[in-house]
Amino acid sequence: MKILVVGGGGREHAIIKKLKEDERAEKIYALPGNGGIAADAVCLEGSATDISAAIAAAKRYDVDFVVVAPDDPLALGMVDALEAEGFACFGPQKSAAVIESSKAFSKDLMKKYGIPTASYETFNALDKALAYVESCPMPVVVKADGLALGKGVLICETREAAQKAVRSMMEDRVFGDSGTTVVVEEFLTGPEVSVLSFTDGETVIPMASSMDHKRALDGDQGLNTGGMGTIAPNPYYTPALAGECMEKIFLPTIRAMKAEGRPFKGCLYFGLMLTPQGPKVIEYNCRFGDPETQVVLPLLESSLLEIMLAVSRGSLADTEVKFSEKSACCVILASKGYPEKYEKGFPITLPATEADERIYIAGATQSDGKLLTSGGRVLGAAAVAGNLPAAVEKAYALADRIHFDNAYCRRDIGRRALKALKCEG
Ligand code: AMP
Ligand code: GLY
Repeated sequence: MKILVVGGGGREHAIIKKLKEDERAEKIYALPGNGGIAADAVCLEGSATDISAAIAAAKRYDVDFVVVAPDDPLALGMVDALEAEGFACFGPQKSAAVIESSKAFSKDLMKKYGIPTASYETFNALDKALAYVESCPMPVVVKADGLALGKGVLICETREAAQKAVRSMMEDRVFGDSGTTVVVEEFLTGPEVSVLSFTDGETVIPMASSMDHKRALDGDQGLNTGGMGTIAPNPYYTPALAGECMEKIFLPTIRAMKAEGRPFKGCLYFGLMLTPQGPKVIEYNCRFGDPETQVVLPLLESSLLEIMLAVSRGSLADTEVKFSEKSACCVILASKGYPEKYEKGFPITLPATEADERIYIAGATQSDGKLLTSGGRVLGAAAVAGNLPAAVEKAYALADRIHFDNAYCRRDIGRRALKALKCEG
């Protein structure tokens, strides 16, 4: 089979490496891929949001299957366009991708179908939003409605901060059109869990749970980033909680989307918070998480290709989805200065890896046979081991064997999870 994967980050590298484990994956193309992905796929010129380029590539290379990984092309309707041309795809159509691309939509969906989430109000008018934060309980969370590269969420401790946040989104338009509508919601507390799931619109099968580390600096300090590291499974997410989430969150969401005439096919990502009142949805993503994928897919023992084909055909219920009992950790090596300003163009030296170690390249280009840094998040050093402490140690040992100037990583990925394990033990 010839497969086209749309996207070009660490997540896509992890997807491509996993797809390649199935011998039916005879050739993989990436649009656009990156300098590191080039070792595993044929990278094509173009952008991941260019729908005509994706259709042209699918036709030119006569591909049998397309995986659309990032949120923007999904929100733009790339799957709809490819399907209209007769290509089988993994990924939701535009009408279902809205579960991520509009927070107002997802909050209203949860309210309508009784899915637990933070209480909230939605505003289109600045004066109404300002009046609301004048009187609501503090702290409060102000969110831009649309996609904002994971940066459109501001946690405000004071009324002044909340007013500033509302003004920055609605008046100063710091997130452009994404801030035309804002959602102001209750501040929740508790450990966060990411649960990625496969769903064909009827059946939903959760993958191994995981925990992201979104802040730039150790001890959850610094700015929010796309994610500085992950561990899986998440020790806070017990089998009892998994059962509760299936019953109160996962199945109701899949059924709600179907009832709304927006059946969701692809990977639905549940961002959950385990609050003292039980698990609640913080956000939905219409795609695999990055860098969650880099710890979840190494634990998948079944064929990813088979599962993705089953999702696209609607036969997920008859397909084996098996995860290993082991643990995984991924440490992101970023360019110093990320998520703000950083320099790029530094050569990367990669070590040889063992079977349970993986290096997923996120931001690098090839130049004269050399791999050079080109992004904020440069790569992920991931390792699988029999238990979480060993996986964390191994991932850091791998990260420490990788070199490029200005490299930066958090040194505490997995610490909170390890603490949870100790409390249990
Ligand atoms: P989101 O983009 O909606 O996932 O939000 C980004 C991050 O902000 C989440 O991973 C949480 O850490 C935090 N966050 C979002 N909503 C809330 C909330 N209602 N209460 C507390 N923290 C939140
Ligand atoms: N790691 C968070 C996300 O992919 O949205």
